[in-house]
Amino acid sequence: MVAANANANANMNAKAGTRANAGTNTDPTANTDRTANTDPTANTDTGGNTRAGASGNANATSNAPASDVVVDPAEPVASNARERLASATTADGATAEAAAEGWTTRLRAAVRRWWFGTPEPFLTKSTKPLKVDPRSFDSFAGDYDRFAGMCDPLGEWLAGLELSGGRALDAGCGSGRHAFALAAGYDEVVAVDLSAPLIEVARMRRPHERVRYDIASLTDVHDAAGFDLVLSMTTLHHVDDLPAALVHLKSQVRPGGRIILVDNTADRPTPARRAYVIGAVRELREDLRRLSARDAWWLYRFRTGSAWLDHLMSDRYLSRSQYRRRYGRVFPGAEFTDLDFATAMRWTRPKD
Ligand SMILES: C[S@@+](CC[C@H](N)C(=O)[O-])C[C@H]1O[C@@H](n2cnc3c(N)ncnc32)[C@H](O)[C@@H]1O
Repeated sequence: MVAANANANANMNAKAGTRANAGTNTDPTANTDRTANTDPTANTDTGGNTRAGASGNANATSNAPASDVVVDPAEPVASNARERLASATTADGATAEAAAEGWTTRLRAAVRRWWFGTPEPFLTKSTKPLKVDPRSFDSFAGDYDRFAGMCDPLGEWLAGLELSGGRALDAGCGSGRHAFALAAGYDEVVAVDLSAPLIEVARMRRPHERVRYDIASLTDVHDAAGFDLVLSMTTLHHVDDLPAALVHLKSQVRPGGRIILVDNTADRPTPARRAYVIGAVRELREDLRRLSARDAWWLYRFRTGSAWLDHLMSDRYLSRSQYRRRYGRVFPGAEFTDLDFATAMRWTRPKD
């Protein structure tokens, strides 16, 4: 349990850290032929036509029709999708057509496999769902912080809201970039994250007398006084039980207080690895314009390095429409905004 009482934390006098954020985006693919969409938290929604994003650095666009079947990866592929896939895909991912027709078809199929990857979980009945790993940041906390410091589209949006008030909670604060920014407008900021290494980085690089950084799960924050602002940025796709987490965060908002939840949304639960690599190549051009060559090259290496890519491959995103539905159930009347690779929700608790 985390009781909020944001007095100064250790390292109060250390120098202030950099402004930070993750989140760049590219659009490496377009008009893909995705035939099914999976959703790790439920299996009843249809996928929307959204861009696929990631905790930061790639987007894929799809024109998947709204009627496409959403499949829980733990379940066999739903019948109409299965039929379509049966005619298109064999167990090893080669197309039936390719076997029957000539080398051009085989070549096309090979290119498609290269582009979309080896069979996605929802394309094969036998593949087990991959496990989302919320602790995967632990192994590259310092690098994540540097990466986050170089690009901040969501932070810019947040800054534009000019938030201020009494007490704020940053649920899943990472290395503290948004908690630190909130301290400019709030009397007291409680910032929690599951990752001890990231909290350590936050305490070292972004100490602030009005911010308290705690190692804790956002679902373990129980604060009797409540918060004027509950914020969570690109974190909720990591939780096991999203509806429970949403209800819990809602319980932490004071009457008249606000909650702002921003998370990655994507047309595809997990965009293919190569989409991120292609995205990184595209981003490099822009990064060379806005950063030093050394930083731009570092960023490129980070984005295409195995630590980050492995992490992204364990992420699972909702589509924009799923996001609106799931969040809207817990926060009726909430306002939604599409932000690049993410969707933001804002809601104010009525005064009693
Ligand atoms: C993509 S990072 C975003 C961090 C931060 N909000 C930012 O924008 O820089 C996701 C963060 O969620 C944290 N996380 C995952 N599950 C969590 C949980 N149940 N409670 C608190 N933090 C969690 C991870 O440790 C990681 O720091």
